[in-house]
Amino acid sequence: MNDERFHLPVRIGDVELKNPFVVASGPTTKRIEQLELAERCGWAAASLKHTFNPAPYINYQPRYRWLKKEKLHTFTAEYRLDMESGLRLVEAARKTCKELVIIANYSYVHSDLEGWQDAARRFDAAGAQILELNFCCPNMSFNVNVSDHSTRASRPSSGGAAMGQDENSVRLVLEKTREVTDLPLIAKITPEGGRIAEVSRVAFESGASAVCSVANRLGIPPIDVRNYRKSIYNLQGQNTMGCLSGPWIKPLALRDVFEIRRLVGPARHINGTGGVASMEDAVEMMMCGADSIGVCTHTMIAGFDFLDGWMRALKNYLTEMGFQSIREVRDLLLGEIKSAADLTVWPGHARVDPDRCSLCGLCADIGHCNAVALADDAAVIDPGLCDGCSTCIDICPEKAISMIERM
Ligand SMILES: Cc1cc2nc3c(=O)[nH]c(=O)nc-3n(C[C@H](O)[C@H](O)[C@H](O)COP(=O)(O)O)c2cc1C
Repeated sequence: MNDERFHLPVRIGDVELKNPFVVASGPTTKRIEQLELAERCGWAAASLKHTFNPAPYINYQPRYRWLKKEKLHTFTAEYRLDMESGLRLVEAARKTCKELVIIANYSYVHSDLEGWQDAARRFDAAGAQILELNFCCPNMSFNVNVSDHSTRASRPSSGGAAMGQDENSVRLVLEKTREVTDLPLIAKITPEGGRIAEVSRVAFESGASAVCSVANRLGIPPIDVRNYRKSIYNLQGQNTMGCLSGPWIKPLALRDVFEIRRLVGPARHINGTGGVASMEDAVEMMMCGADSIGVCTHTMIAGFDFLDGWMRALKNYLTEMGFQSIREVRDLLLGEIKSAADLTVWPGHARVDPDRCSLCGLCADIGHCNAVALADDAAVIDPGLCDGCSTCIDICPEKAISMIERM
């Protein structure tokens, strides 16, 4: 196709992606038809649905909820591929997709390292162009805790997010995988455990060409308090921890990418994933340190063909801002985000425009503030009592309040 509209290349190891956009591993990368469509819509790469090796010990027909108001996707019941179907999907994709870079996403659950090596060899032979080692799945590993502390130094802990919190396991698996393949390796890392940057650094030192951050966050989805036994999912009996994704997780995902970039330095490739649902979200990810961008939930909700609009918008944005390349956007936030100890806070207070105020009284109800009173025709703010926090500005439905800097 070689379509200029989709050209803004980035590299993972020695593999070129024609643009930074990757369909992240999930329900939109489990069938060949989806991969073909993603290619036609201009996506640079697709990380195929998780291959679980040996066969998935928990596997269900999917049950999802997309909570529009919260911009939150949640699931527990999910379907994964076994080794044979994962390999067949890679082979089929390589036959028909000439431009889409095919990433095999997999994990191995037993505690020996040979299983990881065997999977790498087989995906390499099947034609995968990049291997994504899944150290992130919060769904399986949190259900079964098989960490074996007594043999920790020489054996990896169990798969998915349980393993991804543990630098030693990540190091062992990557080093062993490196011995059997020259393909670029992505370590898909978990924020569980709070050490995502440290684990990423170890991943790079152990042979990873990139890290991908983040996968779903594990949490408890909304509960119907009058019917708390009822699952929020349709056709599902019990409540469960939910694997959360979509725009709701973006602030957390940005932080993870930011932390990784700050620790690993500028030379490493980070795939920023988590809540990206617009061109602007992608730019935010890049500003926090991402080279490429993974999108899962938004492809579930909206398909694949929005990418054309994103690419157009991204190119216009680069021109408008005077950037020569997306690399110039990367890391822009790194110097901007200051520690809480280094903030500059100007003195000031809020002021009400009486012509706009409807005397609704919401600003006078703010619990942490005693500066607002309701006069006959408008709310009035006492500058001497106002701390300048600005909650009233956000609460006012009439946009009648603004802040004045005190000289
Ligand atoms: C239903 C569902 C299934 C997923 N399956 C996988 C998977 O098989 N392997 C994987 O690495 N990540 C999987 N993910 C995680 C996504 O690839 C992605 O990291 C995460 O959802 C955050 O990105 P998003 O907000 O764009 O969805 C899945 C996500 C969802 C919502």
